Amino acid sequence: MPADVLHVTGARPNFPKAAPVIRALDALGVQQQLVHTGQHYDEKMSDVFFHQLGLPEPDINLGVGSGSHARQTAAIMTGLEDLMLAERPQLVVVYGDVNSTVAAALVGAKIGVRSAHVEAGLRSFDLTMPEEINRMVTDRLASLLFATSPDAIAHLAREGVDPDAIHLVGNPMIDTLLANLDRFDAAAARAAHDLEGRYAVATLHRPANVDDPADASNLTTALHAVADQVQIVLPLHPRGRASLEAAGLFEHPGINVVDPLGYVEFMGLVRGADAVVTDSGGVQEETTILGVPCLTLRPNTERPVTITHGTNQLVTREGLAVAVKGVLDAGRASTWPVPPLWDGKAGPRIAEVIARELG
Ligand code: UD1
Ligand code: UDP
Repeated sequence: MPADVLHVTGARPNFPKAAPVIRALDALGVQQQLVHTGQHYDEKMSDVFFHQLGLPEPDINLGVGSGSHARQTAAIMTGLEDLMLAERPQLVVVYGDVNSTVAAALVGAKIGVRSAHVEAGLRSFDLTMPEEINRMVTDRLASLLFATSPDAIAHLAREGVDPDAIHLVGNPMIDTLLANLDRFDAAAARAAHDLEGRYAVATLHRPANVDDPADASNLTTALHAVADQVQIVLPLHPRGRASLEAAGLFEHPGINVVDPLGYVEFMGLVRGADAVVTDSGGVQEETTILGVPCLTLRPNTERPVTITHGTNQLVTREGLAVAVKGVLDAGRASTWPVPPLWDGKAGPRIAEVIARELG
């Protein structure tokens, strides 16, 4: 029997977003298929999420691997076109802003399969980010747009999207966080990384921070200045490993560079941290809910709600050490506002809308 819904995932941030949606659709008896494009393929970038989050094994893995934007996106599109023509799902569900997301929306649009975009309407207004291009194109093509925050609705409205297609549902990334909160063991993370006293966690992988040797060098200087104040654990995304190593990042004794961590181990580490330094989208959201001060090394964010309602602030490389000192001196806030509907129920809200659409 053909599946009603085809989920397309491929990169690390897709997996915690898809898990609650798949579970909630399952509970409603919707027939589903899960595609992994193979955009991410290392065990720690992919498999570990399937095991830890109880995601079903993908029905199909396209195994596209790494490549330039055009090559990777084209390989995903070619694989998905064959699959979707054969399977003819009623709806393809795509997540976030990675190349796998936009590729699936494009294929669906060309062959007449409607798409639903989970995490629609986020905008950094920075077209130098590949993700911003992916977001805009995906939203333009989607028939159902699931927004995580009110600002996203405003952006979509301004772009002329039919209001009936937009649904403010909350944040499925936060569903996954809240569902697994009991497993985030800060003491175990301290022991695993030999940490005593205060510590910061850093994750950095944006092209603007790590690709160019000059940027990698500036980032290294900034992180070394932080490591003079507080020890840092840095689970390093493979993208920046070579450039940051060449820039001398690993040489400071206060920086412990480790491989990417499994979701549960990573969140345990973040939960106990005194500060997080990041350019990740998801980490800005997770620290918002955990109440951990987050310093985002970017000139902009498509997630302003994590600043207005959370613990996030944008910082420059030059200003990072002072900003870290500021949050260490201030300590963690005891209360802070949380974005509307980030309550762990986004998956069921999305599933309800999809089930209604499927009739
Ligand atoms: C992608 C997303 C980005 C997201 C990030 C999450 C796009 C355009 N970018 O960036 O939005 O924030 O994932 O992690 O989709 N590599 C490995 N092993 C892997 C995967 C990648 O070694 O399992 C290395 C390869 O050298 C590859 C590089 O990382 O060339 C970049 O991978 P890619 O998927 O192209 O982009 P990301 O930087 O991971
Ligand atoms: N994450 C993880 N281990 C790590 C780093 C990140 O489990 O070592 C998780 C974390 O939950 C984060 C998610 O992976 O929110 C997606 O991370 P990434 O920064 O790769 O993607 P982005 O959100 O920037 O697109």
